[in-house]
Amino acid sequence: MTIAFIGTGNMGGALLRGILAGGQPPGEVIATTRSAASAEALEAETGVRALALEADPDANRTAVAGAKLVFAGVKPWLLSETLAGVADVLAPGAVIVSMAAGVDSGTIRRAVPDHPVVRIMPNTPSAVGHGVISLAPDADASAESVAALTVLLEPVGLVVPVEEAQLPLLTAISGSGVAYFFLLAEHLVTAAVERGLDPEVAARTVAATAEGAGRLLADTPDPAALRRAVTSKGGTTAAALDSFAAEGLSGLVARAVQAAEDRSLEMEEENRAAVGR
Ligand SMILES: NC(=O)c1ccc[n+]([C@@H]2O[C@H](COP(=O)([O-])OP(=O)(O)OC[C@H]3O[C@@H](n4cnc5c(N)ncnc54)[C@H](OP(=O)(O)O)[C@@H]3O)[C@@H](O)[C@H]2O)c1
Repeated sequence: MTIAFIGTGNMGGALLRGILAGGQPPGEVIATTRSAASAEALEAETGVRALALEADPDANRTAVAGAKLVFAGVKPWLLSETLAGVADVLAPGAVIVSMAAGVDSGTIRRAVPDHPVVRIMPNTPSAVGHGVISLAPDADASAESVAALTVLLEPVGLVVPVEEAQLPLLTAISGSGVAYFFLLAEHLVTAAVERGLDPEVAARTVAATAEGAGRLLADTPDPAALRRAVTSKGGTTAAALDSFAAEGLSGLVARAVQAAEDRSLEMEEENRAAVGR
């Protein structure tokens, strides 16, 4: 099974690396980038054949010819034109796997009407094999192709099958959610430094605390129980948590998730309008 990556930057590259970490997939893998420098770096690092549009305007067409799975990793605003540019050379039944945020399957099908589309929403920890990849197949994607894709993505992280209508919410939770944890880490580092801790020690301490908390959560996916286990009545943790509650943290988080979900839905609408749907 030949696999093509059309646009292999931060996210496409993270998925490619994760997939390769799971073992060489059966068949050839071909990747494309815009610039020759990106293609050379990718090929040197991964050993995957990488073609650059800059060097060969037909690079995307060459890569997809014969591929059964085509990962589309270009920026959302380039997706329709990039797929339209390869539609006539896609192998019959080739599945388009789009990682583009805010481009719905109906919009993608306008560019590749004869091909099933699976939308995925990965997050950046995919680069280290600890991603979350929400996966929403359209009605034409066969159970076999979805199963093959799931097996391929498992080394990249947790694969979560969802309805396409839930992708905006999953985008807000796991796609953008990574940044919420980073934001809390940033504030912890700032608070530590303001109170006199060396910045490097603060950064390392917060990173190790986050890693430890993440590992406990991975073992026991029950954050409330883990929180209770570190909170003694009248103790230091209780003092901090009472302060968070008094400041309305739960409402802040709920509104932040809503803002991200709304923005994702808005982007889908903008992209539908851009292709006249
Ligand atoms: N980054 C994230 O956290 C994240 C999370 C979820 C989903 N996504 C989605 O992932 C997609 C890619 O985002 P990214 O952050 O990975 O962007 P990126 O790092 O800029 O990667 C884009 C890739 O596309 C290549 N490219 C540009 N024009 C091309 C063309 N016409 N044909 C083939 N390749 C082309 C670029 O090559 P050069 O390097 O040579 O320019 C680069 O390899 C987006 O649709 C985004 O919505 C990203």
